[in-house]
Amino acid sequence: MTAQIIDGKALAEELRQGFKGRVEALTAKGHKPGLVVILVGADPASEVYVRNKVNGCLAIGMHSEKITYDATVDQATVLDKIAELNANPAIHGILVQLPLPKHFDEEAVLEAIAADKDVDGFHAENVGALAQGNPRFIPCTPYGVMKMFEKGNVDLSGKEAVVIGRSNIVGKPMALLLINAGATVTVCNSRTKDLLGHTRRADILVAAVGKPKFVTADMVKPGAVVIDVGINRLPDGKLCGDVDYAGCLEVAGQITPVPGGVGPMTITMLLANTIEAAERKAAAN
Ligand code: GUN
Repeated sequence: MTAQIIDGKALAEELRQGFKGRVEALTAKGHKPGLVVILVGADPASEVYVRNKVNGCLAIGMHSEKITYDATVDQATVLDKIAELNANPAIHGILVQLPLPKHFDEEAVLEAIAADKDVDGFHAENVGALAQGNPRFIPCTPYGVMKMFEKGNVDLSGKEAVVIGRSNIVGKPMALLLINAGATVTVCNSRTKDLLGHTRRADILVAAVGKPKFVTADMVKPGAVVIDVGINRLPDGKLCGDVDYAGCLEVAGQITPVPGGVGPMTITMLLANTIEAAERKAAAN
C-alpha cells in the first residue's frame, strides 16, 4: 500500500487565499492586522524562518516588520521593545524567534509579551488555556498539524496517538491538542525505554525529534497517519524530515512530506492567529 500524501503546501495556499478577505475587511475598519517578529542574533535558519513569516504576512495584505538585534544585546533592551509593542494599537501579534542567545531568560521574555498579542501561544496564560481545553492562541506548528488532520479527514477520537518529542513549541502542545480531540496520547522522548513498542501501536504518529530519518518503516503501524514535523538539513544541502519518507510511504495510510508538509502550515497558522488577534481587538472596540 502506498500512503495518501497530506499536501501541506496546497492546504497552506488554500487557507492563505481564504485569509485575504478577512484582512481586507479588518483593514477597511481601520484594524489592518500587524505582526512584529523579533530576531536576536544571526542564526541562518532563524533568519530564513523570520523572513518567511514577514513575507507571508505582506503577501496577504497584512502589516509586518522584523526587528533585529545583535546577539550581544542585553535582555532589558528587548523587554523595553516588547513593552512598547504591547502598547502599540497597530500591532496585534508579537513573536520572538527562538532560540534566544544563552544569556537570555527565555521564559521571562515570553511572559513579557501581552497574552492577547502572543500569537505563538507560548505565554503561560495561553498554555494554561490550551491545557484546560479552551485555547485562545494555539502554538502554530501543532495548530497546523490539526488542520492537516482535518484536511485528511483523520478522526482522532479514540485513536492511539504517539508524539515523539516533548518540546514546549511542538511536543507538549501537540499532545494537549490530541488529548482535547479525544485521542489516547503517549509522549515519548530520548529516554523512552521501548520506543518501538510505542510507535508500532500508534494510529497517529507525530515525529518532532530533530533527527533526520529517525522514524523508519519498521516503527510504523500499517495504515497509520504519520506526521513529520522535522526540518533537517543534510550534508548535501537538501532538506529532510524526521521520518524516512520513502520507506514509511509504503507502510503508512497517510503521510506528510518534507518539504511541503507541516512547514508551510506553521506560518499559515501564525497568520491565522494574528488575524484572529486583530478580529478580537476590532470586536472589542
Ligand atoms: N523557533 C522554532 N519554531 C518556532 C516557533 O514556532 N516560534 C518561535 N517564536 N520560535 C520558533
